[in-house]
Amino acid sequence: SLRLGVLTGGGDCPGLNALIRGLVKRGTHEFGHEFVGIENGYMGLVEPDLTRPLTEEDTRGILPKGGTILGTSNRANPFIYAFREGTRWVERDVSDAVLRRCEELKLDGLVAVGGDGTLSIAHRLSEKGLKVVGCPKTIDNDLCGTDQTFGFDTARLIVTEALDRLHSTAESHDRVMLVEIMGRHAGFLTLESGLAGGADVILLPEIPYRVESIVEKLRARATRRRSFSIIAISEGAFPVGGTLAVLDRAEDVPGRGVVRLGGSGKVCADLLAQHIEAEIRVNVLGHLQRGGSPSAADRVLATRYGCGVLDLVRDGKWDHMVALRAGEIVAVPLSESRKERRVDPSGDLVRFAKSMGISFGD
Ligand code: F6P
Repeated sequence: SLRLGVLTGGGDCPGLNALIRGLVKRGTHEFGHEFVGIENGYMGLVEPDLTRPLTEEDTRGILPKGGTILGTSNRANPFIYAFREGTRWVERDVSDAVLRRCEELKLDGLVAVGGDGTLSIAHRLSEKGLKVVGCPKTIDNDLCGTDQTFGFDTARLIVTEALDRLHSTAESHDRVMLVEIMGRHAGFLTLESGLAGGADVILLPEIPYRVESIVEKLRARATRRRSFSIIAISEGAFPVGGTLAVLDRAEDVPGRGVVRLGGSGKVCADLLAQHIEAEIRVNVLGHLQRGGSPSAADRVLATRYGCGVLDLVRDGKWDHMVALRAGEIVAVPLSESRKERRVDPSGDLVRFAKSMGISFGD
C-alpha cells in the first residue's frame, strides 16, 4: 500500500468531487492506500499548512457536489511561482522545493487532476523525478488525449437549459438574443448546446463569421410572423478580419484583481446593430456554466477516472494520465495533454446543422 498526494488545479468543474471520492474509496478498499489532500492546487505544495489527511470519511456526501473539496488555484505554477516582495511581485522557480515537500510528506506518488496547465506542470515535475499520474478535466472538452472530459456534459445541460429559457423572452418580444458561451478557443460547448437548445445561428472560434451572413439569416427569419432569433456565440468567436474580443483575459496578474466580463457577444451585437432594427440583447452565461451538481454521465466518467488512475499507479505508469478512448479507460503519456483539439468545420455536426438551416455566419 502507498501514500498518495492528491491535488486539483486550474478551473473547477462539475465531477471533481466524484473523482476524488472514487479514487479514495477504491484506493482504500482495494489497495489499502493512504491519501493526503493537497489544497489549492500546486500552491499546497509550496505554502505551509495546506495539506490534510484524505480518508473515506472525508469523501462522504461529496458525490453530487460541484467544485472541489480540495480547492484549486489558477496561478500556482511551481516553475514560475509568484511571491510578494515588499510592494512588488516576483516570480521564482520553486520546483525543487516542491519535490522536497513531497519527500517530507513521505508521498510515494502524486495524483494531479486538472486541465492542460496542471497536467503539463505534472509532466515537468515528473521529468525532475517526481512520481506523478494525471486525470484530465475541463468543461471545454478540448483535450486531444481523451475522447471526452468530465464537466462537459453538465455544462452542455446548463447551457441548453439557458437557451430554452431565453426562448421565452426572445419569442415574446421578437428579439435577437445573443448568448455568450464558454470554451475558450474551442467551440464544442457552443456547438452541442446550440444544437440541443435550438439556436438559429451558431458562432464558433473555428469558423470566423461575416456579419452580412448573419444579417441575411436574421432578415429571412424576420419575414415570418414570429421573427425572434437565438444566436449561440462562443466566447472565442470573432468576425472575419477581426480579432478575438477579450478572451485571453486580463491574464491573471498576481496582486491585481481580475475582471472577466465576456466580450464576443457584445462585439457581435454592436456589429449587428449597424444593420438591423430589431431589439438585441446579450447574455453572458459565465461561471454559471461550471457550477453546481454534476450530471449522472459526468459522475460516472469522473468516478471511472478516479478509479482508473489507480490502475496506472499499480502498473507503475507514472508520467501518464487516464483517458477515455473508444469507451475504455486507458493510459496516455502526460506529454499528450498539451495537445488541444478543435471543432472540425467540415465534421458531421456542423454539416448536419447547416443542412437544417442553422447559420454559422460563414
Ligand atoms: O477552461 C474552462 C474555462 O471555463 C473556459 O471555458 C473559460 O474560458 C475559462 O475557463 C475561464 O477561466 P476563469 O475561471 O479563470 O475566468
